[in-house]
Amino acid sequence: MAKSKHIYVCRNCGAQSAQWIGRCTSCGQWNTYEEEVLKKEKAAVKWQNPDAPKTTNKALLIHEVPSGFEKRFETEDKEFNRVLGGGIVPGSIVLLGGEPGIGKSTLMLQVALQQTAMKILYVSGEESATQIRMRAARLGMTQAPHLYLLAETDMEAIFRQAHSLQPDLLVIDSVQTLQSDLLESAMGSISQIRECAGAMQRFAKATMTPVFLIGHITKDGTLAGPKLLEHMVDTVVQFEGDRNSGYRILRSIKNRYGSTSELGIYEMQQAGLREVSNPSEILLSQRDESLSGITVSATIEGVRPLLVEVQALVGNAAYGTPQRTANGFDLRRMNMLLAVLEKRLGFRMGTKDVFVNIAGGLKVNEPATDLAIISAILSSNEDVAIPQEVCFAAETGLSGEIRPVVRVENRISEAEKLGFKRIYLSRYNMKGLDPSRFGIEIVPVGTLEEIYNALF
Ligand code: TYD
Ligand code: MG
Repeated sequence: MAKSKHIYVCRNCGAQSAQWIGRCTSCGQWNTYEEEVLKKEKAAVKWQNPDAPKTTNKALLIHEVPSGFEKRFETEDKEFNRVLGGGIVPGSIVLLGGEPGIGKSTLMLQVALQQTAMKILYVSGEESATQIRMRAARLGMTQAPHLYLLAETDMEAIFRQAHSLQPDLLVIDSVQTLQSDLLESAMGSISQIRECAGAMQRFAKATMTPVFLIGHITKDGTLAGPKLLEHMVDTVVQFEGDRNSGYRILRSIKNRYGSTSELGIYEMQQAGLREVSNPSEILLSQRDESLSGITVSATIEGVRPLLVEVQALVGNAAYGTPQRTANGFDLRRMNMLLAVLEKRLGFRMGTKDVFVNIAGGLKVNEPATDLAIISAILSSNEDVAIPQEVCFAAETGLSGEIRPVVRVENRISEAEKLGFKRIYLSRYNMKGLDPSRFGIEIVPVGTLEEIYNALF
């Protein structure tokens, strides 16, 4: 007779405890423990491939290990392939995370619909097959020769289907809706998610079928799962963006088969997601005249140079405490830059409201944006526009020095390609750089005063 057992599980990190505790000893979060009931002492959903021989692993010398050069499935979606590091690796398990409504289901369905050569099983625990069909119709595609839909939440039933269909790719929408009978805890609880994801992982490795798990993350992180799943899966990609702007960014956070910090950009349209192959063009606003407070930064996201527009607004604070807001940029870093401006250039920023915004809903966390942000703030403060054909790429230090950035050649070439006429860089970046190779004027600067004098 199976013994039922109560445990307490941290909603944030998945740590377990025999008793309820107020503060997680593992991750330090308060009030995150929830009671869970296990029906069996040790529940495990087994995925067994009946044909697989029983082997015990033996330690091998590295050169004896079969090289297993990964043959990847390339999807029709170039951005998607790139973010995954060049396509889908057989037997890999990928977590696609994002806030509800951001477009995860749309993205996966679209990728699945475009595939003609692969047999795909798309399991949805959130929508009925009819709803998915309607979505497909909205995407303009209801004909896909090898796409099977299954509205199911029960793990064992999904595995039965998978075993009879033998798909080349399994998509689970979403991991929070998976449920195993072996556990008594509710759907979406941590034990369920961990158990089901573990079973999916064993399935992926045993059958070499790639599995995509969709997972919801809410802003305050209350929904269980994705955080704890991150170390169970091979790859974590996140779909993000400002829901009001049409742009969505697919970002790889962890990748055992490729580089992280890769980026894919999409535009959400009436009929689905469209790949944006030249993102700089959409991130720069189309304007006819130069306005104050707007600059362009030559940044690098993943391996791609990206020109993004920085907007700043500086005004006199109407109330005692000045307001500081940064959208798409780290607020603490902005405050640091303001302190540098105050100390090194003598601007009285303490009485000013400062708002900084990165256009297009993009988030940049590269220090190379510093100079563009400082210049935008100065431009708004002085109410003097910076010419449109100028861009920036440098970090700013606490003493007001302009510091070099990595991969400066890529940034210069991208700026040149997009028609910029002048780029401001740190003079320490000039070593080994041949300015005559580029058709864009390169202006080296060393300190904040120099940039101020050059611009105003
Ligand atoms: P969805 O994929 O359901 O989000 P998730 O699975 O991440 O919860 O996306 C829902 C949003 O996408 C919804 O607000 C409407 C929008 N959308 C479009 O704008 N165009 C489309 O063709 C589709 C299918 C969705
Ligand atoms: Mg969905």
